[in-house]
Amino acid sequence: MLNHLIDLDQLSLSEIDELIKLANTIKNNPWAYQESCRGKIMATLFYEPSTRTKMSFQTAMYRLGGEVIGFDNPENSSVSKGESLKDTITVVSGYADVVVMRNPMEGSATAATLYSKSPIINAGDGGHLHPTQTLTDLVTLYNEKGRLDNLCIGLCGDLKYGRTVHSLIKTMTRYKGNRFVLISTPELALPQYVKDVMDAAGCQYVEAGSLSEAIPMLDVLYMTRIQRERFASARQYEEQKGVFVLDSEKLTAAKKDLRILHPLPRVDEITVDVDDDERAKYFDQTVYGMYARMALILTILQNGETRRKSKTLSSTHPHNCSNPKCITHTERYLPHLFREAGDMLECRYCDGRTLI
Ligand code: NCD
Repeated sequence: MLNHLIDLDQLSLSEIDELIKLANTIKNNPWAYQESCRGKIMATLFYEPSTRTKMSFQTAMYRLGGEVIGFDNPENSSVSKGESLKDTITVVSGYADVVVMRNPMEGSATAATLYSKSPIINAGDGGHLHPTQTLTDLVTLYNEKGRLDNLCIGLCGDLKYGRTVHSLIKTMTRYKGNRFVLISTPELALPQYVKDVMDAAGCQYVEAGSLSEAIPMLDVLYMTRIQRERFASARQYEEQKGVFVLDSEKLTAAKKDLRILHPLPRVDEITVDVDDDERAKYFDQTVYGMYARMALILTILQNGETRRKSKTLSSTHPHNCSNPKCITHTERYLPHLFREAGDMLECRYCDGRTLI
């Protein structure tokens, strides 16, 4: 049963399929759902910029008849006075029936579940995960390709910091026969922990340095923005930007039924002439995302009728997480929680690995 949504791994494939079906049912008959969340309140806490994720969540809640509170600039909230994540979540979860949170620190959504009285939905935790974008991508693929299995999926751009890529690969490895082409520079290659997920699932993948060479074999091309805000220096970003650009000319070698997705915002990685190609689905994807989020809110609120207080884990491990972007380094009261993985410790917040 869905309570918090931090990672789509928490759901079985049949639960994910139920959400996709519900999103389509709502899309085909939205009027039937316009009172479904009457009297419910959703909080959107955005510590990082957002257009689509925040507004599609808000629109989804309004279209279900519910109300929305929150902030999209932490400078206008008590966060600017130094309030901890623990205190903000404790208070806001007392006001709202569901809390949607985006935060730049990896593992922040899991941290929020320790203190929340209401379900937490992860709307992006730094470069780590973005499960509701994946749900959006799944609804898009289901409608546009008619299936979620046996697809050759190219992912291009910032595979290192792109949380949408991490979440999407983790979920698509669970469907049969999917293959991946990872198109990036060596500097922006996929993190090892996501490659390990593909290996464990027995998925085939190849790494490619050229978009033109990869394009002819793809059923799906998932373009991404180079995540400027996650680089240590402006120089490192400048070296990476503009390396992979999709334009109409490259598309002449692509399959007729290729589908091009992008979580957006786009910077310069897809030229504007591609927008008119019938294979370009990134603007439709934003609409599918609203229905995906309506299905998610509805399901979570139905499940959450009896509010549950998450158990607070007090035991703390003597080791620190070695990932400098992990939430445990900024919210220092958090218990250190790890899974043991051979001679490594895997952080339960950010999945970062620390050698023992
Ligand atoms: C993505 C994100 O925020 O991770 N956008 C989104 O949620 N639609 C991708 C990005 O910012 O590049």
